[in-house]
Amino acid sequence: MAQAPSAHRTDVVFVDGVRTPFGRAGEKGQYWNTRADDLIVKAMIGLLERNPNLPKDRVDDVAIAATTQQGDQGLTLGRTSAILAGLPLSVPGYAIDRMCAGAMTSVTTIAGAIAFGAYDIGIAGGVEHMGRHPMGFGADPNPRFLAEKLVSPDSLNMGNTAERLHDRFPQLTKERSDLFGMRSQQKVAAAYAAGKIQPDLIPVAIKSDAGWGLATQDEGMRPETTMEGLAALKTPFRPHGRVTAGNASPLTDGATVSLLASEQTARDLNLSVKMRMVSFAFAGVEPEVMGIGPIPSTEKALRKAGLTIEDIGLFELNEAFAVQVLSFLDHFGIADDDPRVNPWGGAIAIGHPLASSGVRLMIQLARQFEEHPEVRYGLTAMCVGLGQGGSVIWENPHYKGAK
Ligand SMILES: CC(C)(COP(=O)(O)OP(=O)(O)OC[C@H]1O[C@@H](n2cnc3c(N)ncnc32)[C@H](O)[C@@H]1OP(=O)(O)O)[C@@H](O)C(=O)NCCC(=O)NCCS
Repeated sequence: MAQAPSAHRTDVVFVDGVRTPFGRAGEKGQYWNTRADDLIVKAMIGLLERNPNLPKDRVDDVAIAATTQQGDQGLTLGRTSAILAGLPLSVPGYAIDRMCAGAMTSVTTIAGAIAFGAYDIGIAGGVEHMGRHPMGFGADPNPRFLAEKLVSPDSLNMGNTAERLHDRFPQLTKERSDLFGMRSQQKVAAAYAAGKIQPDLIPVAIKSDAGWGLATQDEGMRPETTMEGLAALKTPFRPHGRVTAGNASPLTDGATVSLLASEQTARDLNLSVKMRMVSFAFAGVEPEVMGIGPIPSTEKALRKAGLTIEDIGLFELNEAFAVQVLSFLDHFGIADDDPRVNPWGGAIAIGHPLASSGVRLMIQLARQFEEHPEVRYGLTAMCVGLGQGGSVIWENPHYKGAK
């Protein structure tokens, strides 16, 4: 009898990642007249053009996430967008949903297949057009959730879960959240001014009443933010609450996409190697405080990798809400303004198009790895609706030893 091939693990690398500029969701936003699937297709074409060494027929699979999989975000996005982006019909594709961690899950799912040896190359990303697909629209949560008190009523509204975090951890004050939000705006503005963000943006043709134009940058940024301005904002989720439009991620439209490969295939095809995947983990927490999800997922991913939090030299944490990032930082004993954390700002300023944000974190970490050869490991992590967290630990291929 022929022997079964032994189980083995192949090294997985992040070859490249790009995204559309993010837009403010809603009628006044730059993508109001743009289809969601066109956003992901545009990003995918940009990715393929940037990697001309990639033989398109070598792509083994395409995983694309969206939270609301209806209309122009439905129809098995990975397959439809692959065809529309000009990949050969022989390349299959599928859709993924883990709400905010959709794109992160596309990456880990494709990476799992590469690590197993089933695939050599895959495309992974996500899209969310929160203007055309408002959060929770058309959802029909099972009545048992509330009738049997399986989850608290606050669990279904993300802003309420952030207020719950402020309740649970009184040291996480509104002032700390506002300061974190303001710094995020300032860091993104500085990164834009230094030209750090733009190289990975794929411009998108957009149509408005004024005619055709080009989206070239993130639309939600508010570099003029001040603490006084933030203190005056309404608290939309609770009277006299602490969560505001200034310390929460805004409703956003956008798409991200990445190219993953086995390290050997990347080397054989002369593709870039921007990051090496070390470990990943997802974890569940009480849904009414979903923002703490990245704590157990990070602990799990660190354990799997045999690392500790001290080994992480750069953090890309999704800023769904400032309070939620602060709960993570407090847990691990990291200062609110630690320069290793979101050095180019985060979702409060850039936006958080739910199922696409995970790859945006990876795109930024990959760029920072290039600039920091003294850093060996980096973390991308995010919270997820209904009480989850996701974390991926990456190794810097440019690592040259500690300074
Ligand atoms: C918080 C939230 C409800 C605000 O929505 P919104 O009211 O449509 O937001 P806007 O951008 O219109 O901002 C509201 C007001 O705050 C002001 N504002 C926002 N950010 C500001 C800042 N940094 N500085 C000063 N003012 C600011 C706006 O100018 C606006 O003022 P106006 O009412 O006078 O026009 C919405 O962004 C939200 O739900 N965010 C969370 C999204 C989410 O849950 N994602 C999933 C995470 S798990």
